[in-house]
Amino acid sequence: MKMRIVVLSAVVGLTFAVGASAAGNPAVRDMMGNSDCFACHAVDHAGVGPSFKDVAARYHGAAAPTATVAKLAEKVINGGNGSWNAQTGGMAMTPHPQLSKAQATQMVQWVLAQ
Ligand code: HEC
Repeated sequence: MKMRIVVLSAVVGLTFAVGASAAGNPAVRDMMGNSDCFACHAVDHAGVGPSFKDVAARYHGAAAPTATVAKLAEKVINGGNGSWNAQTGGMAMTPHPQLSKAQATQMVQWVLAQ
């Protein structure tokens, strides 16, 4: 009985943690799908751009400092290259001037949670 309570609270805790994180935010995922992110990126393998799991690993995921998140959001808006040449052969990310800073920040947080 005690064991069942422990397991149950672990499951509830996990559900809460995932639901609360950007990774579980389907609205952000939809926003990215409505933009062109997945034309060049996949979560777990490199495409034209690096995989989102590789991006998350490089910047320490959800533990990335605010300044790093802001820098990455600016890069999504302005585009750019040079950080992932080994994976991309020097390809640039196209700019996304239609995204607000808030939208780009949410997207970066979603990426970092992968
Ligand atoms: C035309 C292809 C393309 C599209 C579309 C694209 N990306 Fe990228 N993305 C890239 C490439 C190429 C890189 C690697 C850039 C580099 O080497 O600095 C990259 C890098 C990134 C990085 C890591 C930047 C860094 O400096 O480490 C993030 C985060 C990212 N993309 C998010 C997004 C999001 C969010 C979207 C949708 C709004 C998006 N990308 C759309 C090609 C693309």
